[in-house]
Amino acid sequence: MSAHSHAQVATGDAVLSVRDLAVRFDSGRNVIHAVNGVSFDLEAGGALGLVGESGSGKSVTSLAILRLLPRPTARIAAGEIWFGGRDLIRLSDREMRRLRGKEISLVPQDPMSGLNPVLTIGEQVAETIQAHEDVRRGEARRRAAELLGAVGIPRPGDQLGRYPHQFSGGMRQRVMIAIALALRPALLIADEPTTALDVTVQAQVLELLHQLTVERGTAILLISHDLGIMARMTRQITVMYAGHVVESAPTVEIFARPSHPYTAGLLRSIPRIADVGQPLTPIAGSPPELDRLPRGCPFAPRCAWALEVCWREMPPLAPVEAALAAGAPQSGPGAHLLACHNPVAPGEVEAGKPLRPGFRPAPQPPEYGLVTEETA
Ligand SMILES: Nc1ncnc2c1ncn2[C@@H]1O[C@H](COP(=O)(O)OP(=O)(O)OP(=O)(O)O)[C@@H](O)[C@H]1O
Ligand code: SF4
Ligand SMILES: [Mg+2]
Repeated sequence: MSAHSHAQVATGDAVLSVRDLAVRFDSGRNVIHAVNGVSFDLEAGGALGLVGESGSGKSVTSLAILRLLPRPTARIAAGEIWFGGRDLIRLSDREMRRLRGKEISLVPQDPMSGLNPVLTIGEQVAETIQAHEDVRRGEARRRAAELLGAVGIPRPGDQLGRYPHQFSGGMRQRVMIAIALALRPALLIADEPTTALDVTVQAQVLELLHQLTVERGTAILLISHDLGIMARMTRQITVMYAGHVVESAPTVEIFARPSHPYTAGLLRSIPRIADVGQPLTPIAGSPPELDRLPRGCPFAPRCAWALEVCWREMPPLAPVEAALAAGAPQSGPGAHLLACHNPVAPGEVEAGKPLRPGFRPAPQPPEYGLVTEETA
């Protein structure tokens, strides 16, 4: 393959395609519908953000990709996870172990949980390299020092012999990033990578993560509650609610034209300098219990846009007409997809409700919530 055609493949192709992923937890008497038909594409070298409230299924989705769901309670009930021409769901545990760390790596939320307290930093970085590559100890340590330097750890050669507890939280997270990038993976998953750090260090660590992934052409799947972080770090955003993808679009498009009432609510709840002293506008209500998932749209009880059909039918994830008319693709990284019967119109985002004369949200019918979507 020529260098030119290789570059085309590398920029135009999805490195990761999740299709209709469903994950269930069997907790004895009831089944928890944690992830309910999630699909998204992440382009090679791209940056995709997964956002959504606590419990919306972001971490479970990432654990499914890494095949690290807790056994035996969790199971992948349906779907495909395409990575480098393979469906990860079908790989053996052994193949998955070879791939993890080398082709897909993880930066966990809590850097302490990812580091071994009784091994030195140098041993841990070198061990990652030696687990996948046939290199001598001296060479592995030389590369470890180089990596620690790349993540901004001063005098890296002197730090190799120190233990995790001798580093600050921010420095430990830098070590985790060094380990995650040691083998130049095609995909890095970062699940709330900086929530354990204080705000100034958060910004530095995220900036570093951004810079290193761009330099190395590593695609990043970033999970965060923080839309400000998403705006800086991602090119696409996938919004999850109750285990469903409700909206997915390029980051600029999500901020300019949010179409799902939940996305609009998330954007309205970002504090802005101009609003200092004003109360924030959180989204009223709470997400549904995932062991009794209603048949209709799970956001209906909190939605000012709800129609009668919303209480009965979950809308499919489909391209937004206006985006198609403006030249966006039907699917893939540039697409604007939406699962909603009554999208937010321009101008309604700020208002937090439909501005159509006489519109009233359809009230909850008595049978809603009594029906479980499925038991499988
Ligand atoms: N070990 C488990 N056992 C049973 N249910 C679980 C388990 N882990 C997750 N779940 C269920 O899956 C749902 C999704 O959890 P997940 O951890 O993916 O949420 P999240 O979007 O990452 O939230 P957060 O922002 O709080 O990290 C939870 O609401 C919970 O019902
Ligand atoms: S308008 Fe209907 S489908 Fe759209 S979010 Fe509201 S309840 Fe769900
Ligand atoms: Mg989580």
